[in-house]
Amino acid sequence: MKSLVVYYSRSGNTKFVAEEIVAELGADIEEIVDLKSRGGKLGWLSASRDGSGNRPTSIAETKRNPKDYDLILVGTPVWAWSPSSAARTYFAKNDLSGKNVALFFTLDNNPRGVVEKTKKLIPNSNLIGDIVLIKPQIDKEKTKKEIYDWCIGLRSKV
Ligand SMILES: Cc1cc2nc3c(=O)[nH]c(=O)nc-3n(C[C@H](O)[C@H](O)[C@H](O)COP(=O)(O)O)c2cc1C
Repeated sequence: MKSLVVYYSRSGNTKFVAEEIVAELGADIEEIVDLKSRGGKLGWLSASRDGSGNRPTSIAETKRNPKDYDLILVGTPVWAWSPSSAARTYFAKNDLSGKNVALFFTLDNNPRGVVEKTKKLIPNSNLIGDIVLIKPQIDKEKTKKEIYDWCIGLRSKV
């Protein structure tokens, strides 16, 4: 099974999870780079505004072609109960129709519909799983176990 982990991370949580999944599946990795500055207070505000407004952003050109993979796992932080703008743009720029896709999310407390909202962005994909990880770096061993179990389930579906 050839897998690709694609992720956006503003402050490192989703990156941590992405790298654990890569280690588990032996997957290739692609970071989505938001060309809009998201650092500091102003960056936080723009992220919040773009998340709640369901706005896309500009992203750096990606290097991997998802069509080359059996499974594409896309990870994003939750911004105002929405996927990040960078993930939104990735879905708009990459046709994942007919592909096996799994979604992973990191957040601080409340997912409130983000999974369903994100699924709507890739209506023609074969969604084989999703996972929501709250503050994944607080207890890294617990997170690694959750990821391990999730990946076993995914492997059995591809
Ligand atoms: C603009 C913004 C909006 C956020 N909105 C939510 C939210 O609606 N619910 C939630 O539980 N966490 C929310 N968070 C927290 C992040 O989802 C959480 O810290 C995530 O793990 C960050 O991932 P990252 O480190 O990969 O960027 C928000 C963070 C930011 C910056």
